[in-house]
Amino acid sequence: MKLVIRGGRVIDPASNLDAIKDVYIDQGEIVAVESAGAGGLAPDCREILAEGKLVVPGLIDMHTHLREPGYEYKETIATGCQAAARGGFTSIACMANTDPVNDNRAVTEYILRQARLAGGVNVFPIGAISQGLAGKELAEMGELKDAGAVAVSDDGRPVMNGQLMRRALEYTKAFDLPVISHCEDLNLSAGGVMNEGPVSTRLGLPPISKAAEEAMVARDLILAELTHGRLHIAHVSCAGSVELIRQAKARGINVSCETAPQYFSLTDEDIGEFNTLCKVNPPLRGREDVEAIKAGLKDGTIDAIASDHAPHEPDAKEVEFVNAASGMLGLETALALTLKLVHESTLTINQAIAKLTVNPARVLGIPKGTLAVGADADIAIIDMDKEWVVDVNKFASSSKNSPFDGWKVKGVADMTLINGEAI
Ligand code: DOR
Ligand code: ZN
Repeated sequence: MKLVIRGGRVIDPASNLDAIKDVYIDQGEIVAVESAGAGGLAPDCREILAEGKLVVPGLIDMHTHLREPGYEYKETIATGCQAAARGGFTSIACMANTDPVNDNRAVTEYILRQARLAGGVNVFPIGAISQGLAGKELAEMGELKDAGAVAVSDDGRPVMNGQLMRRALEYTKAFDLPVISHCEDLNLSAGGVMNEGPVSTRLGLPPISKAAEEAMVARDLILAELTHGRLHIAHVSCAGSVELIRQAKARGINVSCETAPQYFSLTDEDIGEFNTLCKVNPPLRGREDVEAIKAGLKDGTIDAIASDHAPHEPDAKEVEFVNAASGMLGLETALALTLKLVHESTLTINQAIAKLTVNPARVLGIPKGTLAVGADADIAIIDMDKEWVVDVNKFASSSKNSPFDGWKVKGVADMTLINGEAI
């Protein structure tokens, strides 16, 4: 099937392209990107008119919780993939904190099979660092890689044992897998449910200090320097972490990191009167942290924006704040919340698209995130200025736990294509 996407503003940070172009697709691949109107139209070629729209590589979410196997009442691979497509994502990497944990070939292969059956977005499993996420023994990383895992992470939990983390950073070098670290010193965060500060005091809720994150970021940076392993820090939430990573990069340490939209869109004030939809781990921080996250995104310290899509059923959220599950949906709001940074001139559109495409692709080492000739025709067509109101009841996700419900936002994926097919 031949297809041309005509007249859009084609932004492909991977090839430094930002121009009005026509994108030609044949048999699921990009075969040409030409000046608008330059190419002739074969008789069997379909056309999509994209004037006034952005044409960008399909977005890549390097941090999604798909909940299958084990927690299908929160999300299935099929509904998670639909949510991704709605949000403009064509590739998602899913965390290992399922039941059973993705610490072996059978689970990785199961996820890939379910994703194939679901059809649509590309799913890249992330294997566990430790067996059962127990933090005691390393998972079989060679086997995980062989089965299709693109990274390892115990996300949801930190690797508290520094020696185990050291071994993980060393061992993964043989397989060229990044180690994605959920940085949280469990002794420092013990019992806490929200950020430590005036709001936790007012609400009388047990606090989590920023030190719980920063201390482990510092440890992991030191271990990355020691081992020359590939460290990626997940969901950076506070100013101190940004500064530690900035300094480490300046010193040449091999580290990358991501943040999630909630950490530049919300603060702990948004918890208001115990709004459990704002309970997330790491917790929402203060205004100064939001500013530091934005500065880190702007100067390149923070490489990627990931959704940390964490679906939970109502029963897990409609309880006392201390007992509520942590996590919020992300796939269907990440693009609009990121574009807000563009509309307010924090990021250029090219920076924003890079953090949602080529940058996470490079961290994961997957051949995605570009519109170069020969690439898979995974594409998002975005209307940057379309205003809409977030309505969780219209989400494709089977969970509804978004604190952004009712928000007026600007920018939406009009169409998501995988291998040249609209999904
Ligand atoms: O808020 C969170 N939810 N943080 C995590 O690290 C894990 C996630 C989940 O799995 O629900
Ligand atoms: Zn995490």
